[in-house]
Amino acid sequence: MHERLDSSAGPAPDRRLRTPICDLLGIELPIVQTGMGWVSGARLTAATSDAGGLGILASGTMSFPELETAINEVRERTDRPFGVNIRSNHEDVERVVRLLIREGVAVASFAHSPNERLIKSLRDGGVRTMPTVAARRHAEKVAAWGVDAVIAQGHEGGGHTGAISTSLLVPEIVDTIDVPVLAAGGFRDGRGLVAALAWGAAGIAMGTRFLLTQESTVPDLVKQEYLAAASVDTVVTKAVDGLPQRVIRTPLVDRLERSRGPVRLARAIGNVVRLHHLTTASYRALAKEGVALRRGQSLTMAQLAMAANAPLLTRSALVDGHLESGILPTGQVAGVIDDIPTVRELLGRLHGEALAAIDRLDSATRPA
Ligand SMILES: Cc1cc2nc3c(=O)[nH]c(=O)nc-3n(C[C@H](O)[C@H](O)[C@H](O)COP(=O)(O)O)c2cc1C
Repeated sequence: MHERLDSSAGPAPDRRLRTPICDLLGIELPIVQTGMGWVSGARLTAATSDAGGLGILASGTMSFPELETAINEVRERTDRPFGVNIRSNHEDVERVVRLLIREGVAVASFAHSPNERLIKSLRDGGVRTMPTVAARRHAEKVAAWGVDAVIAQGHEGGGHTGAISTSLLVPEIVDTIDVPVLAAGGFRDGRGLVAALAWGAAGIAMGTRFLLTQESTVPDLVKQEYLAAASVDTVVTKAVDGLPQRVIRTPLVDRLERSRGPVRLARAIGNVVRLHHLTTASYRALAKEGVALRRGQSLTMAQLAMAANAPLLTRSALVDGHLESGILPTGQVAGVIDDIPTVRELLGRLHGEALAAIDRLDSATRPA
């Protein structure tokens, strides 16, 4: 199981960065690997938790039995705390909540906004809750429900993302609510971690940086596509599922963006049919997926059809390696990431870099 944290990239391994989020979640380092559909399975989640951060399993793209198996597999790989990312509008969400409580999962994060009832059930069952917020009013709302922490994700971030930059959002959220805030959107190294701490955050949460690690099961040729992307190669589009989502700009994304109304609908249905042959998903499952996503959102029929096949578009690229028929959710940070370390190397490096950055700040304040 776990070894001591390696800070070989930086000074003084006997010093340890520690913030309130470490005590709250029972982790060594204030670094969270976020839930990423089709990406954060048992292997990546366990590797992150075992190396001292918090790994989060993405359950939104798993069936219930797959989630049960994934939780067991994480447990076999590490005895450290980990989290599960829940799709709040999933038809099976209450069963998932009962599973998390039964299994003693440390923390739940959420794809799509949770609701007060969901937060209460989890809290009553001893599972900590950590929704993602992208604006002050979201943070106020979830804080009033009694969440344990929030992930404040800025515009730079990967997947579904908000409109406000991380550097503006994080200090604003820190000033607004009284629970620990994890900064997300655009982080990849220890300097960023220290910047987030300077804004008042209790740590950072990263998606794209963890997608680009050895333990991420994304096919190698797809990882190379991310490495090759420049910061300007990402785009926030509603053309995938009706909600703003940051992806790598590819010919497919351009085509989706150009198509309107009936054309988009026809294209979406065409995709569903084509992807049906590439994957094992049934039409019934796709329809249910679409209806679940539609709940609480005013999507047009075309957007609904797109929403139904969005997870399959992502799966096509991130699992099956079909770059031409799949989408690649990403943070802008992909543009400045150029390696694929192991998770343990990554966390050790971040820790060392963060301590070095703190030393630099410290020496900048000494009397001349
Ligand atoms: C490939 C990919 C898939 C994602 N899937 C989910 C998901 O299933 N649930 C979720 O809450 N967030 C999801 N996200 C968002 C991430 O959890 C995270 O909040 C975001 O990537 C942070 O920004 P960064 O990539 O700049 O670190 C996804 C992001 C990526 C890149």
